[in-house]
Order: sequence, then structure tokens, then C-alpha cells
Amino acid sequence: MGNEKISLTAEAVAFIRQKTQKDRFSKYFVTPRSTTIIKIAAALVSENILSHLFSKRMDISEDLHSAIEKFRPEQIVELGAGYSTFGLEYVLAHPGCIYIETDFPKVVSLKKSIVNKIIRVEKLRELDALVFVPMDLVREDLYDSLKNKIKRGRKTLVFSEGLNTYLDQKNYDSLVANVIKFLKHSKEGSVYLSHEPTAKQREKMFPSAGIKILRGAMSILIHNRFHTHFKTENELKNYFIKLGFAHVDIIKRRPYSTTYLAGL
Ligand SMILES: C[S@@+](CC[C@H](N)C(=O)[O-])C[C@H]1O[C@@H](n2cnc3c(N)ncnc32)[C@H](O)[C@@H]1O
Repeated sequence: MGNEKISLTAEAVAFIRQKTQKDRFSKYFVTPRSTTIIKIAAALVSENILSHLFSKRMDISEDLHSAIEKFRPEQIVELGAGYSTFGLEYVLAHPGCIYIETDFPKVVSLKKSIVNKIIRVEKLRELDALVFVPMDLVREDLYDSLKNKIKRGRKTLVFSEGLNTYLDQKNYDSLVANVIKFLKHSKEGSVYLSHEPTAKQREKMFPSAGIKILRGAMSILIHNRFHTHFKTENELKNYFIKLGFAHVDIIKRRPYSTTYLAGL
């Protein structure tokens, strides 16, 4: 099993989501641990900088989510879904769409129990279309893990949010190879949606010393560094094209991240 300490980042994002009050369910995923982490972060940088970072992070969520709405998949596979409530919201709003969430076993098990609590407390209908699959995305085969859960012949969108920068180059390559194999077994026209900063964007991302310290502290906490995989967007496009993708479309270019959609 890979470095599950990364899953701490999922708690931090859940905290950011409830703080920015963009959705009604993230509050169920806030833990004393994430509250403490954010308090420490606020002490390292100012509240203002922290809310600025939160809003940038939520902009990326919005870019991905609006791309999904536009693509209108019949089936979604979310890689490293963590404690995101998007899947829950999506199946509520789009009956008929199957939504499969993947993450490390510990994360998935906690997520399932909290989602069940939400269904009970919020009196939601049973959500058979929301499926949880525990797995290590870089060490296990995505297609084999999902083949009994997915419906064949459905236009499928595979996506990841906030995952790639935690993967070193070798693990990133494995993840992408996993996605390619999965898409080859999917209906024609199925796609991969993701986002990441290029090295150029990254250079501009952390200008203040406080933010650099914050990043350093987080790296120690999760036993991981932050990785970029491409210097430029052209490098990113060429990487996917070389691997056999027919198109790589830039969905949104922000100063600190690029969201892209690629199809075989
Ligand atoms: C920053 S969190 C983002 C979570 C969620 N996508 C969101 O936006 O709220 C990254 C997630 O990726 C998961 N993850 C990282 N490496 C993974 C791997 N090798 N296999 C499965 N999940 C992984 C972590 O457990 C964590 O939940």
C-alpha cells in the first residue's frame, strides 16, 4: 500500500469546502485534526492569504465540475475522491448516472460511513448509483478493480481533483497508464479530465515566505513532496499524445493551474 498519509490532505480540502460554504454536506467531514491543521496554517500565514488560497482551490473544483456538467457523462469514475461531496451532489442531481469513487481503503471506509450518516440525517433517498471502490490507484489495476461495478457501453468520464501533485513521476505514469487501460475498455468517446500546475505556473504560485513554510510543513505531515510533471502546457499535451491520446483540450487556464480533458 502506498503512502496513506496523503489522505490527510482530503480532510484539509473538506475543511476548505465547508469554510467556503459552497456545499451543504462538507461540514460532516470536518475533523478535529483538520481544524487543528488549518489553525496552524492560519498562524503561519495570514487569514487573508489563507482565504485567498482556499478560493483558488475552490476555483479549480468549479472548473472541473462545470466541465463535467458540460460533458454530461453517463458514468463517472473519480480517482482519489477523498471526502469530496461532489459525487453525492451529482447523483442527487442526475439520477441515472453512475458515480464510482476510488481512494485508499481507510478513506473509503470512513467516507462510506459518513455518507450513510448524511443520508440518514438529511433524509436523502438511498443512493445506489454512488459506488465506493477502495484501492491504491498506482499499485492496483483500475480496470480490474472496477470491471464488476461499471456498466458497459456508457459514456464514461474519469477524473481526478487535487491528486496529481502528490504523485512522483513514476506513480504519476502508473496512474495515467491505469486510466488509459480503463478508457480502452470504455465506450468510445470516454474521456479523462484532470488539472495540474505546470512547473512554470508553480514558480509563480508561492511567492510569500509564509506560504512556502506552509507547504513545507504540509509536506512533512503527509510524508510527501509536491510534484509537477510538466514544464509547460505543450509538454503536458505531448505527453498524452505520445501515450496514444487523440486529443488533449485545455478546459481552463489559470495562473496557478491548468484543467485539461483528454480522449483516446
Ligand atoms: C488532496 S486529496 C483530494 C481529495 C478530493 N479529490 C477532493 O478534491 O476533495 C487527495 C486524495 O487522493 C488520495 N490518494 C492519493 N494517492 C492515492 C493512491 N495511490 N490511491 C488512491 N487514492 C490516493 C488521497 O487519499 C486523498 O483522498
